[in-house]
Amino acid sequence: MNQRAKRLKDTIESESENFREQVQADHWRLHYHVMPPTGWLNDPNGVCQFRGLYHLFYQYSPIDANGALKYWGHKTSKDMVHFEDQDIALYPDQPYDIDGVYSGSAFIENDQLHFFYTGNVRHKGDHNYITSGREQNTIHVTSPDGFTLNKQGVVIGADQYPERFTQHIRDPKIFKKDNHYYMILGARNLEDQGEVLLYKSTDLKSWSYQGIFVEHQANMGYMWECPDFFELNGQEVLLISPQGMDPLENQFHNVYQSGYFIGNTDWEQQTFKPLEPFVELDCGFDFYAPQTFEDESGRRILWGWMGLPDIEPEYSNPTIEHGWQHAMTLPRELIFEDGKLLQRPLIEYEKLRKELSEMNIHVDGKTEVNGLQGEVYEMFVTFHEIGEIFTVQLRKDMTISYHKEDQLLTLSLGASGYGRKERKTTIENLTNLHIFSDTSSLELFVNDGEKVFTTRTYPTPKKGSDIICFGGSAKINVKKWSLQKTS
Ligand code: FRU
Repeated sequence: MNQRAKRLKDTIESESENFREQVQADHWRLHYHVMPPTGWLNDPNGVCQFRGLYHLFYQYSPIDANGALKYWGHKTSKDMVHFEDQDIALYPDQPYDIDGVYSGSAFIENDQLHFFYTGNVRHKGDHNYITSGREQNTIHVTSPDGFTLNKQGVVIGADQYPERFTQHIRDPKIFKKDNHYYMILGARNLEDQGEVLLYKSTDLKSWSYQGIFVEHQANMGYMWECPDFFELNGQEVLLISPQGMDPLENQFHNVYQSGYFIGNTDWEQQTFKPLEPFVELDCGFDFYAPQTFEDESGRRILWGWMGLPDIEPEYSNPTIEHGWQHAMTLPRELIFEDGKLLQRPLIEYEKLRKELSEMNIHVDGKTEVNGLQGEVYEMFVTFHEIGEIFTVQLRKDMTISYHKEDQLLTLSLGASGYGRKERKTTIENLTNLHIFSDTSSLELFVNDGEKVFTTRTYPTPKKGSDIICFGGSAKINVKKWSLQKTS
């Protein structure tokens, strides 16, 4: 650890003391989601399973709930359900990353662990920080064990990127194909269009530019962050987090987007061509910068940031006043089936289940069920019959409603949404809802993972604010479990 890292570490230790108590006392601290111990959290980084143990690194600003200087925080887990906090893994302590250890990923080869990340540097002066004043270097890190991370230095310097780009090029993700290593990077070109760049290597140390892996597409924004690429059940999938898209019907209403293209790569040309339009990964208010990895059992797992940058003034997170902000979504298993990308909660989360309440309910008008309430729970609703309208009201002023005729599923929030109001999606035929409710969040999986809505919610605990109430008409089976606390 160099002098600067030591200084940063000392400051963090003394200052986080001051607000640790306040953070821990906050009733909106989540019970079974990954959160920053104090301060701010954003993107998942370097997610992997190495020698059996899961590692989740993340963008972390330990003493600033508004996210100033970025570090890599670190948590480990044996089951992706229970996590242990580890020491900060990467400090912004080098000339090439002095203004932030930005996002990156892990790559395991021959039982060796590598990481690649973006070192952010901001020069002082009169700059626009788009075409001048910024460096985003690509840095290689090795690790013998997943705990000690050794920076190996810059592998692609900010001055080596191709000319037709701005200085926004970041978030390396590595994959291997036919004995070559490839790196993709998210970028903003000089015409303010998002694109993905491709680099190639034979030794993970020296990287040569191959060209544009994914070209800009119409209405796809000015910058693409956090690219990811993988094959699932024989289908190539490209994830990106674009900034600057216009809303399109019920999609793309958040400040920035995250989604995927289904497509094909021409390996001669080294370009990926989307086969279908870009699809939003999550229909809720709080989801961004997801990253995937393949675990040792071969599952493709996706972790998202349950939050977004620049959400104000539309909505906000009152936890800032308690010294922390943001969390991760639950990890999701990705499945490609019948031409569709599905996202499902991990089976491991079943071990958090405590008491089960199960009932068959004939909903006919407003139906309150004795004993059905809660703040922290998992609930699975199966539809046997569904009328024109069906609603579930929960967590005080949150409503999930389905209109059969317009095939619209809507999530709406009242005052506890802190500005979050309504998001919708089309569901042809509603068969089930799988809800994970935590103190200040809700994840709703629809039709076994066909669609997902993720949102933060901040209800003040009051008598009656935990009631679950059905409306409209339907014949349903409800299973509801209270859940164990993990944090
Ligand atoms: C996405 C992002 C990345 C960047 C990181 C900085 O949320 O903007 O592009 O590397 O966050 O924290």
